[in-house]
Amino acid sequence: MSHFTRKDGALYAEEVSLLDIATRYGTPCWVYSRHALETALDEFQQVLDGFDSLVCYAVKANSNLAVLDVFARRGAGFDIVSAGELKRVLAVGADPRQIVFSGVGKTAAEMELALAAGILCFNVESAAELERLDAVAGSLGKTAPISLRVNPDVDARTHPYVSTGLKENKFGVAYDAALPFYRQAASLDNVRICGVDCHIGSQLMDAAPFAEALDKVLLLVDGLAAEGIVLEHIDLGGGLGIRYRDEEAPSVKDYLLPMLDKLRQRQLRILLEPGRRLVGNAGLLLTRVEYLKPGEVKNFAIVDAAMNDLARPALYGSWHDIVPVVLQSGVALPWDIVGPVCESGDFLGRGRELALSSGDLLAIMSAGAYSMSMSSNYNTRPRAAEVMVDGARCHLVRHRETAEELFALERRLG
Ligand code: LLP
Repeated sequence: MSHFTRKDGALYAEEVSLLDIATRYGTPCWVYSRHALETALDEFQQVLDGFDSLVCYAVKANSNLAVLDVFARRGAGFDIVSAGELKRVLAVGADPRQIVFSGVGKTAAEMELALAAGILCFNVESAAELERLDAVAGSLGKTAPISLRVNPDVDARTHPYVSTGLKENKFGVAYDAALPFYRQAASLDNVRICGVDCHIGSQLMDAAPFAEALDKVLLLVDGLAAEGIVLEHIDLGGGLGIRYRDEEAPSVKDYLLPMLDKLRQRQLRILLEPGRRLVGNAGLLLTRVEYLKPGEVKNFAIVDAAMNDLARPALYGSWHDIVPVVLQSGVALPWDIVGPVCESGDFLGRGRELALSSGDLLAIMSAGAYSMSMSSNYNTRPRAAEVMVDGARCHLVRHRETAEELFALERRLG
């Protein structure tokens, strides 16, 4: 069920009109629905009920403190990829023993911070990283809990930029190198083997590759057990896709049940790292039409949001539905919805059939994931405000940046 619905032709986030949000906070503006976030997390937790499991939200998808807070309150763990993300989740009071640390390039300083915090597990992605982690842990007199991110060489059948489980990708350790990796880890003094991890890509619209990857990982688990290396947990990563347009995304049940069937008889705690599925359809970007520029070849609607706010269309050619906040009765024409940034790649949608006038408000849908978190200040554009709706209430959860804030860290010469 969507938490963005129409009443008398006007779009609402839960019980709050987007017209009111635009008036109160200005545009462009990110709008999140608290209940959409909670519902998305509940879905995972319900299917996992009865299993020893932990849903670790992939913070990179949307790292606003309010979003993290909503998930922390409902018992989620977190999947982080930097010291910055670690500090964010600790700032909302997350339990460090529910944090996993992913990523191919962890620095020694990041390892130190995470060891000091006492996180659940480092998802190690290379032998070189393993050696460094052992040394860093040793120097602190600590033991680092580790799992190996194995690359199962499975085709996730998704966009090449977000596919991660193929041999040619930079992620994880090759499947055939996994056993030697664990043997090496077992010989080190300052690491403790606790699990195995795999993440094959993002925006997967087919559940089959997940199960295929799991089969390979379970073979590895058995091979390790035969050598006396017994794992405590298996981390299945994230990657479950969402509907952006009219595609059919698998339900959380269809995604998880085939995997849970394979895990039912095993003594393995189950970790997941969903990002997009928890936040993607819980957010939208509210923007206003500044100018209409009809032309011979194309019609451009220039809006006040741009590629610096939402990079996905420019970066991956991604589709986001763009809908009027108030339904208009005029003649619909095909419009390219573009921003003010000085690049031809600055588009949010192309050829959208809409009846538009300047001043109209538009909602760019499915913009809860990899949207604000990937935004930039290109063209010295202050990043947009973020608002979280909770029933009839609205919370400003990040104020709109000011231009002065953007250059406050800079100094002139001399
Ligand atoms: N775990 C790891 C190790 C990851 O690298 C990722 C995402 C996730 C979990 C969460 O995946 P999700 O459940 O969100 O699919 N910027 C791109 C997506 C990049 C995904 C990066 N890794 C986009 O906008 O589509």
